[in-house]
Amino acid sequence: KRCVLAYSGGLDTSCILAWLIEQGWEVICYMANVGQEEDWEAAREKALKVGAKKVYIEDLREEFIRDTVIPAAQCNAIYENVYLLGTSLARPIIARRQIQIAEKEHCIAVSHGCTGKGNDQVRFELAFYALKPDVKVIAPWREPVFFERFAGRKDLLEYAAQKGIPVAQTTKKPWSMDENLVHCSYEAGILEDPSQAPPTDMWKLCVDPKDAPDEAEDLEIHFEKGVPVKLICKDGEFTDPLPLFLQLNTIARRNGVGRVDIVENRFSGLKSRGCYETPGLTILRTAHMDLEGLTMEREVRALRDQFVTFNLAKILYNGQFFSPSTRMLLAANAVSQEVVNGEVKLSVYKGNVTIKGRKSETAHLYDEKLSSMDELGGFDPTWTSGFIAIESMRLRNSDEAKHWL
Ligand code: ARG
Ligand code: SIN
Repeated sequence: KRCVLAYSGGLDTSCILAWLIEQGWEVICYMANVGQEEDWEAAREKALKVGAKKVYIEDLREEFIRDTVIPAAQCNAIYENVYLLGTSLARPIIARRQIQIAEKEHCIAVSHGCTGKGNDQVRFELAFYALKPDVKVIAPWREPVFFERFAGRKDLLEYAAQKGIPVAQTTKKPWSMDENLVHCSYEAGILEDPSQAPPTDMWKLCVDPKDAPDEAEDLEIHFEKGVPVKLICKDGEFTDPLPLFLQLNTIARRNGVGRVDIVENRFSGLKSRGCYETPGLTILRTAHMDLEGLTMEREVRALRDQFVTFNLAKILYNGQFFSPSTRMLLAANAVSQEVVNGEVKLSVYKGNVTIKGRKSETAHLYDEKLSSMDELGGFDPTWTSGFIAIESMRLRNSDEAKHWL
């Protein structure tokens, strides 16, 4: 009986590891590096000490950027108008490698430490089943034998002591976090009262906007088909996807860009308060949307916004990335992105992102002469009289305006 456990090095998954071994499983621990800050070697040692047969530490940052972050940026994905989906984007990538390891190590089962109320369990497990339909999933926090035995943190600590699991001396933060190269999320604990502002020392990625430099920082992002291909900033030029994205994070973090605080609807229907810091992607999305304004045809853009952006965000949030709908939406989006070529100049200042200008060599829809207020440029003003006459027909024929008098 072999199982791959998504291991974090923390108290919960260390106890889960010991418990799985107690249940007769041979456990392989797997840690995904999706850009979070972590003492990888300490976690590896801990897993081995608790009894893991093997520990995999996988650097998934490149594929994370390539397979979900860039596609999300290319369609401006956003959930409930605020959340840029940082956690949702990482889950399919993490789950995919876990299944690959399970196959390689001849494991019949996979396990994770997600709680029973959240989105993450759904995202992981839907991905597991899509990738390996016959896999057995062990979700201890949904197993009565587990959650009844470990009803509180005290029980976990006692078990850890009994099993010789080292417990970090740091006092547990009164909220839960999930970090990767896209964002850091903060939920639960003292954040559960949505009327209370989060403590100022909670935020870990970005400086407080009011402590950010008093001088704006300029940057320039070049896009090809909606993909960022070059970043020019005061620290130099970046063209490889991962360094480019990480540099955007650096710029955004030191200028306090990307903090939000919302009450969102989880897939299950529960409402949940979440605080997020999404530094680089906030800048990237702003720049990308701006270039679309210059380059995209109106109706293509409207269809894409209503249809692709909305649904892809929902699919990502609800953990259905490996579903047939994803490729269909991405294919539609790719067509919309063929014209999104060019560059955007921006400046960031104390939490704000400001567009300073944009240009595109391939954009032919924006014609300065035609759009100009100062010259006719081939436009016959008498055409508009007919246009208004037709458009006013249904307004004249309805009595609607009386409600506004
Ligand atoms: N509410 C966010 C989401 O569903 C963040 C989840 C954070 N997950 C975590 N295990 N702390 O995407
Ligand atoms: C969890 O419950 O494990 C974290 C929150 C979430 O998944 O939404």
